[in-house]
Formats: sequence, C-alpha cells, structure tokens
Amino acid sequence: MEAVYSTGHILPSILNGLVAAGKDPEHIGPDDLVMLEEFHTLGPMATAALAQASGIGPEDQVLDAGCGIGGPARHLARAYGCRVTGVDFTPEFVEVGNELTRRAGLADRVDIVQGDATDLPFPPGRFDVAWTQHAAMNIADKALLYRELRRVVKPGGRLALFDVVGGPIQPLHFPVPWADDPAWSFLEPADRIRDLVQEAGFGITLWEDLTEQAIPFFAAAAVAMAAPPGPLGIHLLVDNVPTKFGNLARNFEEDRARVIRCVAVAG
Ligand SMILES: C[S@@+](CC[C@H](N)C(=O)[O-])C[C@H]1O[C@@H](n2cnc3c(N)ncnc32)[C@H](O)[C@@H]1O
Repeated sequence: MEAVYSTGHILPSILNGLVAAGKDPEHIGPDDLVMLEEFHTLGPMATAALAQASGIGPEDQVLDAGCGIGGPARHLARAYGCRVTGVDFTPEFVEVGNELTRRAGLADRVDIVQGDATDLPFPPGRFDVAWTQHAAMNIADKALLYRELRRVVKPGGRLALFDVVGGPIQPLHFPVPWADDPAWSFLEPADRIRDLVQEAGFGITLWEDLTEQAIPFFAAAAVAMAAPPGPLGIHLLVDNVPTKFGNLARNFEEDRARVIRCVAVAG
C-alpha cells in the first residue's frame, strides 16, 4: 500500500509548493493546503457535512482512522474546537501530518500516530467519536475495522463514516486513487457495510448515498488535473491523478462504486 501513497518526498514538495504559491511554510493557514490535504470525495465540504451530521463539538475527543496527512483532523480541530487523534498506516503520511500540524499551530489539539485501524493502540472507550473517511477501501477485514472502532468509542459515542463502497456492477476500472490494481482494493456493497456497522454494535441514525454528487466532482477534477499542475495539488501525494480520477468518475457513473455517508451511535 505504501507504494500507492508514499513518494518519499511529500514534505519538501509541499513546503516548496507553499513557497511557490506565495504562502508562508512556517505558518500554514486554514486554506493553504485545501487542494491536497483532504483526500476524499468532495474535499472539505464533505468533512464539514459529516462533522455537522455527527454533531462534533469542543468537548469531543475524536479518532480519525486512516487520517492521511491529517487535513480533516486539522479542519475538525480548527472549526469545531475538538481534540483529534489520527491513526494512519503509511509512515510518511504520519510524519508529514505531524509536521504540517505543528506548522499550522495545532499541535496541542491534533496528534497523528502510525498504526492499523483494525488493531488500534487505544483502550476501550477512549473516544467520543470514531471518524473515518475513504480509508476502508484499502481494508479487507471490514468487520474487524468496525468492531475496533466500536471498541474505542464510549457507549453513546458516535461513528462518522464517509466511504466508497462497491456498486452492483463489477469489476472496477483501475487504477483508482486508492489502488493501482485489485490487490489493494476491497470494496463491499453498501448493504454489507450497513450490516457490518450494525453487527459491530452501532445503531445507524443517518445513511446517505452521495454518488450523484461524486460523479461531477471527479469528472471536473480529472479534467482540471489534466492541465499542468499548480504548485499545490493532490499530485504531490499520488501519481497518475487524471487517470485515477477519470476512472473513479466512470466507476461511479457505471454503478461500479458508490459513496456513502453514515452516522451511527454506539449501543
Ligand atoms: C484516500 S486516503 C484518505 C485520507 C484521509 N482520511 C482523508 O480523507 O484525507 C486513505 C488513507 O487510509 C490509510 N489507510 C489505509 N488502510 C489503513 C489501515 N488499515 N489503517 C490505517 N490507515 C489506513 C492510508 O494510509 C491513507 O492515508
């Protein structure tokens, strides 16, 4: 998986990109990395919508499972005043995420650790909210993932989930942003995800299919990214972006994949 996500030079690329864009790399502002640090369908709009749907507030301790370079974690801490612990499998993302957090002045509220979302290094009931966006596509054992997220939230705590799931038509067109080939892609149908979330001990309070919004988002992004990239874009994190975004739009259009937003409460 590291081959999909890790380039080995993400931090210098981002810092150089900030300078080239006329921004201060020592004091990173809320919108400075908006083009690349929220690595999921609909970008920061999706994070804001999920935060509102799951009622995140200043008292919440939030776990972001599969947090990437921490853009959504910083967004949540800034906008809602919560404390966020991110966990990510990719060591380079963890290192970059913590350095960007420090440069954004948020190190007192956001911390990122390396780890596996199916084997979390936290005691039971440690968090108020288990949050995960667009990481489960790389995780084969989703029953274990949701059980682990249930374990680390308090009774009455929430699950906030935003993920790509499998559609009725298969297979996917590859490469996609999370996998170059089927070996790293583990999509399950929406109904199966729903069942697994409930079997893990969550009661679902919101279930929305956002695929109709995802299609134009990725189609437009694929076209925009076919032009020479600006200094700060998602191409600093993954290669072959126009092809991957184009395939994703096509997978959504042909009902090979869908996008689901879910909020659930731990019983
Ligand atoms: C498409 S990125 C999304 C990142 C972030 N959630 C966001 O929305 O910006 C998927 C992330 O999931 C992480 N990931 C995949 N499998 C994981 C696992 N088993 N445990 C923790 N992180 C994982 C990858 O390293 C990658 O950073």
